[in-house]
Amino acid sequence: MKQYIHSIGVALPNRIVSNADLALHMDTTDEWIQTRTGIAQRYMVEEESHTSLATRASECAFATTSIPPHTITHIIGATCSPDTYSPSLAVSVAHNLGMTNICAFDMNAMCSGYLYGLEIARGLLCANQSSTILLLASELMSRRINMNDRTTAVLFGDASTATILSTQHEGALAELEDVICCADGTLSNCLTLGGACGKPKAVGDSITDDFFIQMNGREVFKNAVRIMPTICEQILSTNGYTIDDIDLLIAHQANFRIIEAVGERLGITQDKVFINVHNYGNTSSATIPLALYEAKEQGILQPGMKVLLVAFGGGFTWGSALLQC
Ligand SMILES: CC(C)(COP(=O)(O)OP(=O)(O)OC[C@H]1O[C@@H](n2cnc3c(N)ncnc32)[C@H](O)[C@@H]1OP(=O)(O)O)[C@@H](O)C(=O)NCCC(=O)NCCS
Repeated sequence: MKQYIHSIGVALPNRIVSNADLALHMDTTDEWIQTRTGIAQRYMVEEESHTSLATRASECAFATTSIPPHTITHIIGATCSPDTYSPSLAVSVAHNLGMTNICAFDMNAMCSGYLYGLEIARGLLCANQSSTILLLASELMSRRINMNDRTTAVLFGDASTATILSTQHEGALAELEDVICCADGTLSNCLTLGGACGKPKAVGDSITDDFFIQMNGREVFKNAVRIMPTICEQILSTNGYTIDDIDLLIAHQANFRIIEAVGERLGITQDKVFINVHNYGNTSSATIPLALYEAKEQGILQPGMKVLLVAFGGGFTWGSALLQC
């Protein structure tokens, strides 16, 4: 039973925060950020809730497919930054969209969340071919960054994406050929996001640093550049392909130096490597669908293309997927 992506919708907050804007509040420069990361700006919410942003992304996804909202059977929220643990982002968006009696839940695989979401969607579609899935890969990272920590504050941004998947071939954007997802907690302390139930809390306790993203940037960089090419080679060889069969590489958009290094190690030419991190920063689980959406809008993603997706994130988690457009 084949599975297909039908459409991808995106919603961005209204506020654009440039590197110069950040330099007003912390000891950093546009030059440092651009040279080390490639990021020029990012979007950050002001008052809008995560649920509202993700509802807008979902409406955008429904606007470009003939699949009607009432046929959705499952909503998966891939996020590490929901408005609340309960209701989950998925349930809140279902409510906003007027959907009831559906299966809706969140899961967190940090920056690999989209690929984990595709893996779960694939399993659900295999279990019941009449399922139709709305996969939210959506983050308000600005609510989880410590503005006193310049080593992380300049890296992240907010974005919401929604991907509709089903087993129907007609009208599809791409077939989901394969997905591989992995995790290894050995180096979990290199990238952490606390603020959950690891420590007892009482009303009135102040927020501690561990509520925010904490990262050993160099270790994350090193492991991302080592692991992403390996998982790409694994998914290619498992499916009988080589890198020469790939028309477009879309890697998790955290840092242009990581993406270029992954491309080089794989031996793919830079013109086949899509990069948009300069406009959005690292939007965690949202980067890959945001890049897919933009590649399509810009006419780069064309029918017939074979696309390789790869992500790496906290945990560590990582994954890769193959799409046939
Ligand atoms: C974070 C990252 C950009 C830092 O780049 P780097 O070249 O490794 O820089 P370093 O951490 O070695 O820091 C170099 C210097 O810049 C300083 N610095 C750090 N952040 C800075 C900032 N925002 N502005 C100015 N200077 C900064 C450091 O304090 C350090 O100064 P020192 O040499 O006086 O100690 C890089 O490690 C990275 O991209 N890591 C991966 C992050 C990532 O992708 N995370 C998400 C994965 S899902």
